[in-house]
Amino acid sequence: MRRKLVAGNWKMNGSLAVNSALLASVNAALPAKVDCDIAVCVPAPYLAQGQAALTSGPVVLGAQDVSAHEDGAYTGEVSAAMLLEFGCSFVIVGHSERRSYHAEDSAVVAQKTLRALQAGMTPIVCVGETLAQREAGNTEAVVAAQLDAVLAVIDAAQVEHLVVAYEPVWAIGTGKTATPAMAQDVHAQLRKMLTARNAEQGEKVRILYGGSMKPENAAELMAQPDIDGGLIGGAALKASDFLAIIAAAK
Ligand code: 13P
Repeated sequence: MRRKLVAGNWKMNGSLAVNSALLASVNAALPAKVDCDIAVCVPAPYLAQGQAALTSGPVVLGAQDVSAHEDGAYTGEVSAAMLLEFGCSFVIVGHSERRSYHAEDSAVVAQKTLRALQAGMTPIVCVGETLAQREAGNTEAVVAAQLDAVLAVIDAAQVEHLVVAYEPVWAIGTGKTATPAMAQDVHAQLRKMLTARNAEQGEKVRILYGGSMKPENAAELMAQPDIDGGLIGGAALKASDFLAIIAAAK
């Protein structure tokens, strides 16, 4: 049985005051022991704030991106070593917003995954198809190519250190959610690829669903055999919604 993971992706939202109120509400409502793992992936300037606010309680800190490079002349980038200094346990790599607005291809995403693993952080590797790709019947091929690029560069012994997130691009921020059956189909395919790379470890990898997950649909999605949690955008910005999703993760 895989322990579920609920990870908030704040994207480019927040302020010192707003974050402080949100984290205080979440912390205050959660008992010390919960039934799932919980992370919040905050914008880089707020890592220090997140680190200070999350010293006790079950919520751990994550980042939204990491450089593919170790250090050096890469203006604007943030290295894995830097994220580690601020106590990050998780880092999102290959989010569709990075792939589409910043032209990140799967080779870059694979390098970023390696950087995170080398630093001892857990990469949350995002895959997902656009609406046009789904309608053309290419979902399976698209997500397979995205995950394959990562599985090709890591050692088979590193498979268990991954988290994978299936985020259909057409469901992100749109209010459209994949049905539990649709999501499960893709998750099962991703599971097959992970176990093909490492039979034992592939069973341990958490595969999250992301894309308009909210309190109303979280329990049903997470009841699917290969949906091991959620990567939550909009609903992670509202304490009551985030807490309700956490409560649904058992
Ligand atoms: P929404 O939950 O806002 O659809 O965002 C999903 C997402 O992109 C999380 O990374």
